Amino acid sequence: MLSGGKGTRLRPLTHTMAKQLVPVANRPVLHYVMQHLADAGIAEVGVIISPETGGQIREALAGNPWGVELTYIVQEQPRGLAQAVQTARPFLGDEPFVMYLGDNLIGQGIHDFVRHFEEAGADAAILLKEVENPQAFGVAKVDGEGRVVTLVEKPKDPPSNLALVGVYAFSPAIHAAIDGIEPSWRGELEITDAIRDLLEQGRSIRSSVLRNWWLDTGKKDDLLEANRVVLDEFTERRIEGEVSGESKIHGRVTILPGARVRASTIRGPVIIGENSTVEDSFIGPFTSIGRDCRVANSVIEHTVLLDQAQVLNVVRLEDSVLGKDAIVRKLETTHTAFRLMLGDDSEVIL
Ligand code: G1P
Repeated sequence: MLSGGKGTRLRPLTHTMAKQLVPVANRPVLHYVMQHLADAGIAEVGVIISPETGGQIREALAGNPWGVELTYIVQEQPRGLAQAVQTARPFLGDEPFVMYLGDNLIGQGIHDFVRHFEEAGADAAILLKEVENPQAFGVAKVDGEGRVVTLVEKPKDPPSNLALVGVYAFSPAIHAAIDGIEPSWRGELEITDAIRDLLEQGRSIRSSVLRNWWLDTGKKDDLLEANRVVLDEFTERRIEGEVSGESKIHGRVTILPGARVRASTIRGPVIIGENSTVEDSFIGPFTSIGRDCRVANSVIEHTVLLDQAQVLNVVRLEDSVLGKDAIVRKLETTHTAFRLMLGDDSEVIL
């Protein structure tokens, strides 16, 4: 599983946080990935980390509720996915393996994908999804049987609209292919080039098209969309915190232990994390509130608050992402909606 990379598109959040740890419905993206690996019967997981964010990743996986064997592998420089495989070579040995990019969120597990790869006896399998902007991804063209016929990384002139989702399965034949490729224009060893090399050797590359959603959490709006979809799909009504003062809780709202809601209306799907407080406020659909947050005398909707964020006296906040310890605080009343993306420790006084 890959958890390095820089996450430049999610700055400022990723100045202080690995992109794989950005929460969706209050869980780091990486946890969804780990769940998928464990559910597919994968018992040994090599976690590729960068020197910068490796510590956080280890911390986030430390509880290991998946019961897998974790091995951390440091990739000193972000020189591409194929180079990550090279770095992991001693761990991988000559076994077939799955490679899963730790910032990818998909709407179904990978159990069937892995079984198909094993049954087909192929040298590689890739997961694909139709997208509107294939230029931004690796792109494959496949025949009627799901066999890959062409493969190209970030094509100007895409051969299809099927993008490579960041989930792959390989036989050990990939190692020699990786050793034979050169860095791309972006200075990275591209796994797409290595797979194309396998294809040119006449080896069999299988593909499956993902029927469910695939969300790239790389940018603010993608993150909000991922949050919306995951809250919509998985939120259950579960009130473990304290609700008082004529509050109204509508629909699928999760209020975790230690959270307190007073004199407020919450309209699900919404999740409120441990020890957060919501007072005299309205929390609208598709909002995730982390732990130890504070919302008072405010209206918020379709927003993500990371841990310890605060929203105070804000008439309406929507489509926003607030980093850890960020504060939005209003001094006077005006009727405007503000759309914000705030980094950790930011403060905006309106
Ligand atoms: C990488 C792969 C690309 C794939 C994408 C999926 O791109 O190179 O083929 O479609 O992940 O997220 P990157 O995120 O490095 O630009």
